[in-house]
Amino acid sequence: MANNAKLDLGDKTIDLPIIEGSEGEKALDISKLRGETGFITLDNGFVNTGSCQSAITFLNGEKGILRYRGYPIEQLAESSNFLEVSWLLFYGELPTAAELESFTKKVASFNTLPEGIEKIVDTFPKTAHPMGVLSSATVALSAYYENHLGPQPTDADKDELFAQLMAQLKLIVARFYRKSLGLAPIASDPSLSYSADFLNMMFENTDADVAKALDVLLILHADHEQNCSASTVRVVGSSHANVFTTISGGIDALWGQLHGGANQAVLEMLEQIKNEGGNASSALAKAKDKEDPFKLMGFGHRVYKNFDPRAKIIKVACDKVLEKLNVNDPLLEIAKGLEAEALQDDYFVARKLYPNVDFYSGIIYKALGIPTNMFTAMFVLGRLPGWLSQWKELREDPSAKICRPRQIYIGQTERNYKKIEDR
Ligand code: CMC
Repeated sequence: MANNAKLDLGDKTIDLPIIEGSEGEKALDISKLRGETGFITLDNGFVNTGSCQSAITFLNGEKGILRYRGYPIEQLAESSNFLEVSWLLFYGELPTAAELESFTKKVASFNTLPEGIEKIVDTFPKTAHPMGVLSSATVALSAYYENHLGPQPTDADKDELFAQLMAQLKLIVARFYRKSLGLAPIASDPSLSYSADFLNMMFENTDADVAKALDVLLILHADHEQNCSASTVRVVGSSHANVFTTISGGIDALWGQLHGGANQAVLEMLEQIKNEGGNASSALAKAKDKEDPFKLMGFGHRVYKNFDPRAKIIKVACDKVLEKLNVNDPLLEIAKGLEAEALQDDYFVARKLYPNVDFYSGIIYKALGIPTNMFTAMFVLGRLPGWLSQWKELREDPSAKICRPRQIYIGQTERNYKKIEDR
């Protein structure tokens, strides 16, 4: 194939370099387009726009493939653990036994929050949404680590921040959960795995099977290339803002129900179907009605147009967790019925809408005892190593620029100001 594509613009023809990725994905490099022709490209929602070249995560939406650093998600979910996967994402290779041990100890060593952060978390009303608390407390960490506010973090800074944030966001979530119930916080136990420690700080539960189920969920959420929150992380990070505010921006983007907030919305939708007698058909009809803003939450994906490989793994995990915990949740049957009906419905078939990662995850979180409004904060804990890896890659890319899209202006053309008495 040629190295360039030709673009005819009236009497002018220009060459656009073709970029090819390691999995054969192709792009046209349009970075010189405006300088040479005066044209920009317009792509609502960035549906067709690559914002960077990245070596972290590969996904193929048509084939349902998801790989972190080349390793299939199915293998990682089956055999790895969350901290190992986090290391893989951040450093690019699987850790040696010594590297993993040292990283695990380092994460565990951050077993307290600055006192001021504890007070901030405790000051929120117990009814506050955990995502607002988490985002605020994350950016507030910047007040306590002035050494990490500089515009050029060193490798040592990045190593430190990786372990520190992995630990401290977990502490914030668990502390706020206890506080919201009027319970005293439980100290982090450095002898426990990441997931067991989290469950212990939340519920005083260190059951190995339950911790494993949580670990799998976190692994499945750990990165997903240039989605809305990862792109936000890259946009904020591209101004050389510090990592605390950069990650806080990712948390804010994830909160929306078209993105990570879908897990909370799915459970609320399933509850509503149950309360209305368990009939999925009216939810489907509402979702298909173009006059109604309601969408079938947990269905559809910008990239996956065949199936979401994470949803496949979660569906199986869901059955296992409910059996292990001896939970008989009617919402699971409603979810399965809804999925079966949607997958046979012309509207969903024609638009290639399938269950996504959020469709079944909430049922597992619920079985683990996590309150519905905390589901998206769980997604944050899972996605954090991905955001930190995207931030690291951005900051280490010598060609990275501040993100600053263009626009096509469609407002008023020039006109003269009139004094208020003349209007
Ligand atoms: N229910 C009903 N219709 C839908 C749905 C849905 N869940 N998702 C997409 N559609 C329709 C949409 O109305 C459009 O129809 P038409 O062609 O007639 O105008 C068509 O399908 C294409 O959808 P789109 O909105 O152009 O697709 P998108 O790529 O912009 O949006 C999405 C992707 C995930 C935001 C969307 O599918 C959605 O809102 N799903 C529900 C929310 C959800 O589950 N979000 C979690 C995504 S996975 C977790 C994550 O990583 O964020």
